[in-house]
Amino acid sequence: MSWKLLAKIVVIGGAAGFLSVVAISSTLDNAAGEKPLTASEATPSLIARGEYLARLGDCAACHTVPGRPPFTGGLRMNTPIGAIFTTNITPDPTYGIGSFTLTGFDRALRFGVSKGHTLYPAMPYPSYSNTTPDDVAALYAYFKSGVTPSATPNIANEIPFPLSMRWPLTFWRLLWAPRPAPFKPGSLDPVQARGAYFVDGLGHCGECHTPRALTMQVRAQTRTDGDAYLSGAVIENYFAPSLRTGGHGSLADWSTQDIAEFLKTGANRYGIVFGSMTDVIVHSTRFMTDDDALATAKYLKSIVDNQAMPFMYDEATHQLLQKGDTKKPGSLVYLDNCAACHRPDGLGYERVFPRLAGNPVVMAPEAISLATIVLEGSLTPRTSATPAQFAMPSFAWRLDDQEVADVVNFIRSSWGNRSAPVTPEVIAKLRKSIHSN
Ligand code: HEC
Ligand code: HEC
Ligand code: HEC
Repeated sequence: MSWKLLAKIVVIGGAAGFLSVVAISSTLDNAAGEKPLTASEATPSLIARGEYLARLGDCAACHTVPGRPPFTGGLRMNTPIGAIFTTNITPDPTYGIGSFTLTGFDRALRFGVSKGHTLYPAMPYPSYSNTTPDDVAALYAYFKSGVTPSATPNIANEIPFPLSMRWPLTFWRLLWAPRPAPFKPGSLDPVQARGAYFVDGLGHCGECHTPRALTMQVRAQTRTDGDAYLSGAVIENYFAPSLRTGGHGSLADWSTQDIAEFLKTGANRYGIVFGSMTDVIVHSTRFMTDDDALATAKYLKSIVDNQAMPFMYDEATHQLLQKGDTKKPGSLVYLDNCAACHRPDGLGYERVFPRLAGNPVVMAPEAISLATIVLEGSLTPRTSATPAQFAMPSFAWRLDDQEVADVVNFIRSSWGNRSAPVTPEVIAKLRKSIHSN
């Protein structure tokens, strides 16, 4: 949320708004048409189900950080108005959520309200809002009885007064966060519905893959909210590409098997995961059952745009490079720095060095992911399916802004890829942004 916007809300809102919010929030904070939650006995099978759902929800990605006990929070999340820290969600009664009732837990998870105040939407409660009461109860059983309590204090947020006041967040929540209601399948078949429940809900895929409005809510929470849904968005220094099917830079060429394989292992014949998606795979989707991964893939393949444009490999670039013809800008930079791994034909080595030809992330409308990986390098994730790790070196020290732009533009316009170029000025800005993090 931008500083200016929050400041505006603070000024415009005023005390009158505050009072009316208190009055109406109590009526809106009930989920639409659902049975009351009932805490079931925390049997081993319920706890195990809760643990699986916690994986799907990727709770650990934010609430577990290296060097602190599991689920005690402490992850720094930078916002334009200051840093906030994730919290201790172990069952410790003082520092964690040990004293939360099932209803209190549900209100934090789906409504974004905890201990009487609204949470920052950095906690993805707008997505979690579709979770069914049974799944909320299983998660609760796991966090109450399956997680080891730890008396680790929370870290205080670093947001200065008056922006640290939370009631503008209550406005935001009432205006923009969906009202919690258990998922409804609509016209989807049961398998796709299972995928949709996860993608829109615990998986919170749209938090990164759907563009946001100026007021920071995602522009489409579900498939019925319009074409912005999962159409790709910039997230920090990466672009989370479109998960729709339709045209270059989308999942048009990926089969359901390709998608399921990517979610379970972080790689497939088209690419290898990097950037913030690595955390999603490592902490969450690699634990999916085969059925759930396939259901997710089937659901994503059902989101089809009309402009299908399959990728067509074009030999011309490979032939020029073989002849030593480096007239095209960026081709020499590519031969000297990249071709040893990604090969002159741009086809790489499957699961080791990803192919750049026909790779959706390379063809995405925004080149920022590519520029960031060239500057920063990356390490493939280690999963049980891919025990060996491979490195992409960082080139920030070696290539100047012009060379980075040239090589990025080269790979985006070779072997059949056809995507818009970037300028060296964009690369210069990106370098600064990476170093300020
Ligand atoms: C993208 C990061 C992120 C993910 C994923 C995430 N959380 Fe959170 N969560 C946060 C942040 C940040 C806060 C604190 C927000 C604030 O202080 O307003 C929080 C707060 C909470 C709270 C309130 C605790 C308190 O003491 O008030 C609960 C409960 C919680 N999260 C549970 C979960 C569960 C369960 C999951 C997985 C299903 C989860 N979170 C996933 C970021 C995340
Ligand atoms: C030493 C081998 C090596 C060299 C040299 C290399 N890369 Fe990579 N590259 C990799 C590996 C390994 C990955 C996968 C990293 C990951 O997924 O974390 C990768 C990933 C990428 C990706 C992301 C594609 C995807 O699906 O993961 C792009 C784009 C890329 N490299 C471009 C380049 C460019 C441009 C150069 C030259 C400036 C280059 N690479 C040099 C090994 C290399
Ligand atoms: C924290 C942000 C974040 C979340 C949450 C997230 N993604 Fe991603 N995703 C990214 C980024 C960034 C990339 C680009 C890097 C890459 O391709 O590995 C990406 C890439 C992908 C790709 C590869 C696309 C391509 O063209 O190469 C798939 C498939 C994908 N995500 C699916 C999902 C699904 C399904 C979910 C929900 C379970 C999800 N993502 C949640 C950030 C995210």
